[in-house]
Formats: sequence, structure tokens, C-alpha cells
Amino acid sequence: MRWLIPLDRPSSIAMPLLLVFFLRGDRAVAEYLNRDLPYKLSEDDVYLTLGCLQAIEVALTVLARPGANILFPRPGFPYYESRAAVCGLEVRHFDLVPERGWEVDLEAIESLADKNTVAMVVVNPGNPCGCVYSYEHLKKVAETAKKLGILVIADEVYAHLTFGSKQFVPMGVFGSIVPVLTLGSISKRWIVPGWRLGWLVTTDPNGILLKTGMVDTIKGYLDISSDPPTVIQGGVQQLIENTKEDFFLKIKSLLKKAADTGYDRLQDIPCVTCPMKPEGSMFVMVKLNLSKLDDIEDDVDFCVKLAREESVIVLPGIAVGLKNWLRVTFAIEPSALEDGLDRMKAFCKRHGKKQ
Ligand SMILES: *Cc1c(COP(=O)(O)O)cnc(C)c1O
Ligand SMILES: *[C@@H]1O[C@H](CO)[C@@H](O)[C@H](O)[C@H]1NC(C)=O
Repeated sequence: MRWLIPLDRPSSIAMPLLLVFFLRGDRAVAEYLNRDLPYKLSEDDVYLTLGCLQAIEVALTVLARPGANILFPRPGFPYYESRAAVCGLEVRHFDLVPERGWEVDLEAIESLADKNTVAMVVVNPGNPCGCVYSYEHLKKVAETAKKLGILVIADEVYAHLTFGSKQFVPMGVFGSIVPVLTLGSISKRWIVPGWRLGWLVTTDPNGILLKTGMVDTIKGYLDISSDPPTVIQGGVQQLIENTKEDFFLKIKSLLKKAADTGYDRLQDIPCVTCPMKPEGSMFVMVKLNLSKLDDIEDDVDFCVKLAREESVIVLPGIAVGLKNWLRVTFAIEPSALEDGLDRMKAFCKRHGKKQ
């Protein structure tokens, strides 16, 4: 959908790049997503963006209007809050429920939404929770959104990065129940975050987004935005079609190993509890038990002192919306992870309440 090269000034540099012009990144992304959908997307449904972050920016900006509100998960990915603030969207949070594998609290959604609610966001596989949603749960999400007359924004930047019992199911599978804006990128699965190539896709087989003018608004907004790098757009087809299965298997097995080791070691640390073993993405949420600690005020205090004393960095839960929790990233070398969690254990012992 997007021009690859400004053709106003042909130059010797542009000539070799003209070859790139015929490699359609949007078509490659459509074909890639079609592997998991019960209907066919075309390149006209795909908008290439500067990473998934720009896809989020576009989705929220085109939905914003005076008085509108949007539903975000808690805990969540904080860029959504920042973007909503920039475009004046009122944010309402629904909880993800740790006892239910961090599923969406669907009843909360129904009581939060009103006639000014435009959309809800689902991040699956989850950052920061490491959860993977089942087909049945995603279907219920779609049915709830349909009932409320709102869109679903599906952040699938960790698509296929799963290593537990559940397979990744794209929200777009339910696009005939409710229109879905699917967001993704090559940053995480292909581990090239600096290449800045993502997508926003209208997974909407009934064409509701076209009929209501949403598609025109998306195009209009992208006309005044910058495009992803030409060379990367040219390369994305190669990347998607020719990356060997071995590459993905190796990463998944590394993540699984790290998730298993991390989860086991966390059980050993007295001042935290981990409600669920992560099944996808690169993160896990653990709850701090402050009553076991002597001189720690809250999650921020814990993280600052841990960094200072043990050179271990974990994210305070408040940064993702949950006070007195921690978000631990396990996407590191397993031996470094073990070392880091051993240090966290030593830290908890040192600061533990004396009986
Ligand atoms: C990393 C991340 C993004 C941003 O992805 P980029 O392609 O690097 O812009 C978006 N959403 C979530 C949930 C992420 O973790
Ligand atoms: C927190 O620690 C206290 C004191 O050891 C204990 O009684 C309580 O059950 C713990 N809470 C949780 C949620 O684990």
C-alpha cells in the first residue's frame, strides 16, 4: 500500500533500489498472516509501519475524537497510555486476572464500556504477563466486543513466540465476529528490533472498517507520516519467506528453557510469588510480599536497591500498572538469568524481616 521510493529525483543510488520497488512487503505480510486465518487478506489490508510502535500510534490516532474512551489491559504495555494521552483519548483499564492465566476480565469490560468507547486492546502472547490466550477465550473477547459495538486492537508483536501447552491463535480468526486491527512487527520473532518494520492490518472480512471510513482515515494519517526504511521494506519478503524453521525452533527452545529455569528459581525466593509459569513472549510477572521485607517501601524501592546492590535490573510493576509487582525479563542467556535470580534471592534474604 505504501510507495517504497520517492521517484521525483532519480539518482544512481536509487537505480539499484528500483529493484526493491517490485518486492512487495505488504503482500509478503498478507501471505504470512493468511497462513493462520480462515479467510484471505490482500496487500490492501496491510499497512507497513515503523515498527509496531507506529502501528499503535496510527490505531489510537485514527480512533481518537472528542469524548471518546478506550479500554486497555492492566498490567499492560505503557506505550499505549502515553499515546492515548497524546491524542486525547480517555483511558479505562480492565484487569487481567492472574488466577485465570491472566485472562481478560470480560465482566469488567462490560461495565467499563459506554457509548463513547471505541476499542479495547488485547496483547497476546502477553507482555508483561507471559500469557497465551486460548481459542475459546479470544472468541469470548470478540463476542464481548461485538456486543458493545467496539473494535478489537490485537497487539500480536509476540505472535508464535509460544512454548507452553497453548498454540498462538491470532485474533483475526474472529474478524467476522468483530472488526480487528491486527498489529505486529518483525522486531521480536525475527529479533531485529532496530530494523523498524511493523504492520497494521485490517483483519475484517466483512469490510466494516472500509464502509465506515476507518480505512480512509488510516490512509490519510499515513499520508502525513514517515514510512519504514525502503531497504527493509524490500527485504521483508525474503525475511518472511526464507527464514528457516530451525531459527524459530532454536529461539523457542531457548525461551522455554529460560522460562522453566526462571520459574523454578523464583519459587525459591521467599519474598516473591509467581502466579503463572510463562507460556509465551519474554516476560513474567511476580508479586512482591512486602510484609516479608524489612526496609523496602514498595516495588520501586525494591528495584532501585536491587540494581544498586546486586546490579540486577527488573522493572517495577507500577511501570506496567501493577503496584508492588515486578516484571522479570527472561530473554537472556540462561546462565545469566540464574545468576541474576540468585542475586535477587540473596538480596531478599539480606532485607528479609528478622523473626
Ligand atoms: C516491543 C513491543 C512493541 C513494539 O514493537 P516494535 O516493533 O519494536 O516497535 C509493541 N507492543 C508490545 C506489547 C511490545 O512488547
Ligand atoms: C506474605 O508473607 C506473610 C508473612 O510471612 C504471610 O503470612 C503471607 O501469607 C504472605 N502473603 C502471600 C500473598 O504470600
